Amino acid sequence: MPDKKKFDRDSISNTLIMAIGLSLVCSVLVASAAIILKPTQLRNQEEYRQRIILEVAGLMQPGGDIAALFAAVQTDRVRIASGEDVEIYLAKDGDELQQIILPISGPGLWSTMRGYLAVAPDGNTVMGIRFYEHGETPGLGDQVDKASWRDLWVGKHIYGDDGTPRIKVIKGFVRRDASNPDAIHEIDGLSGATLTGNGVTKLVRYWTGPEGFGPYLESYR
Ligand SMILES: Cc1cc2nc3c(=O)[nH]c(=O)nc-3n(C[C@H](O)[C@H](O)[C@H](O)COP(=O)(O)O)c2cc1C
Repeated sequence: MPDKKKFDRDSISNTLIMAIGLSLVCSVLVASAAIILKPTQLRNQEEYRQRIILEVAGLMQPGGDIAALFAAVQTDRVRIASGEDVEIYLAKDGDELQQIILPISGPGLWSTMRGYLAVAPDGNTVMGIRFYEHGETPGLGDQVDKASWRDLWVGKHIYGDDGTPRIKVIKGFVRRDASNPDAIHEIDGLSGATLTGNGVTKLVRYWTGPEGFGPYLESYR
């Protein structure tokens, strides 16, 4: 009897079949994982966005139920000068408006920074600022999201007497005495990160100016 042909696992054709088969199995696994995990990812993203909005409004409580707390936040849309409808948030206590929470974004030194600015119902006083996405340098530009720096914004006035945005991140420390009438608009600089600070000034002024939410905030003032 002739010898049965032996399976040659090192042959070119078998190596190719094995490699292609393995690639197919892996791609099916990866694609399935992506599809199965998508709803969870979207849910987590939405929960993160809601948490940031609650945090900038000072409404987040440790261990609090984000969805329940977010029930106090109403979504609205504002048409800006470009014609785009931008989603904003109104934090309410019953029927009473507590804060207007506006999305803000713009270039820092290395990256586009994205965050939220909370404004009092007077349409002028800052109640909070929070950047949730940026690529600034750790230890330098990333101080934009340091709690102690964010706290410096609370109570600052966005607009000067002429109604234009005067709020500004300065270089160094704000002179808090009678000789500096601008202190109400000024925030201490970020040490070693003046350029990121300048970016924050520009983007906050842009979004609170005529091309951003300026006309909308004016309706509250
Ligand atoms: C590796 C590297 C990373 C830097 N990252 C930042 C940054 O994220 N933001 C920033 O404003 N400046 C950054 N700088 C510093 C700027 O080049 C610039 O010196 C600084 O903004 C000036 O701020 P100061 O006048 O407060 O020192 C970085 C510099 C180096 C060398």
